[in-house]
Amino acid sequence: MGTNHKLIIGNSMSMGEIPDNSVHLIVTSPPYFNAPFDYKDLFNSYGQFLGVLKKVAKESFRVLSEGRIFVLNIDDMLVNGEKFPIVADAIKIFMEAGFGYRDRIIWKKPDGYLRISRRSGVLLKNPYPMYFYPDNLLESIIIFQKGKFDYKSVTKDVREKSKLNITEFQQNKWYMTLWDMNNVMPGSPLEKDIAAFPEELPYRAIKLFSYVGETVLDPFCGSGTTMKIARQLGRNSLGIEIKKELVTTITTKTGFAEQKRLNNEDSFEVIIRKRSD
Ligand SMILES: C[S@@+](CC[C@H](N)C(=O)[O-])C[C@H]1O[C@@H](n2cnc3c(N)ncnc32)[C@H](O)[C@@H]1O
Repeated sequence: MGTNHKLIIGNSMSMGEIPDNSVHLIVTSPPYFNAPFDYKDLFNSYGQFLGVLKKVAKESFRVLSEGRIFVLNIDDMLVNGEKFPIVADAIKIFMEAGFGYRDRIIWKKPDGYLRISRRSGVLLKNPYPMYFYPDNLLESIIIFQKGKFDYKSVTKDVREKSKLNITEFQQNKWYMTLWDMNNVMPGSPLEKDIAAFPEELPYRAIKLFSYVGETVLDPFCGSGTTMKIARQLGRNSLGIEIKKELVTTITTKTGFAEQKRLNNEDSFEVIIRKRSD
């Protein structure tokens, strides 16, 4: 049997198309508050940014099934010399929405990744105390949970089909709170102008926190990385993306641009909300 994939073009502050308790996992990375390169001046204020997170957290809590997980890739952001405590605020917001705070994983990018800025250059120019600003190689992956999971609710057959590969788990060190993962290369054509996360991130999250045949949602869909990997792993997917111009990118990335040729049973639907929706 094929899997179903639905892309909603609209604002994820409301998720009216998605019924209560119908999603089994959420994996996402929202725009980081006014990130200097990717989202300069996107929000009028930090309060407005937190307001979006609050609404998305509330809707996510509604659509997630009992016991299920929200994987949030986010990090603190330095904007015009001011550091915003996004991780701390996001944890508070999600807990206020009803989620339990389950874990925090640190994603470490390769040492060569210093795209945003070489802040450490300040000290090289001024090799004296008080000039130290470290280059940032880290992001957070915060794991929230809605209530308690009932392990008995999964059939034996589905459980076996979703079994993890222990060699992969151990060799790639998934078991630690530090995940070494490459970032998406700047200039990759499908992720151009989108701060996409690497496929490895939803790959680990989907394998670790959902079963085959279940539904994975990404409310900040971007280029469609989560949807692509959900499909690859035999899960259904839902994506919400505010930018209509990303439909072609998402259709291509998920493999549905060539669906006719592939002629398999997976289905893909795009819903474009009216402005007032
Ligand atoms: C950091 S990117 C996500 C990238 C994605 N993880 C990927 O791998 O391509 C955030 C995305 O959220 C979208 N976005 C921002 N605000 C939104 C909102 N309120 N509702 C839906 N999408 C939104 C942006 O247009 C952007 O594409």
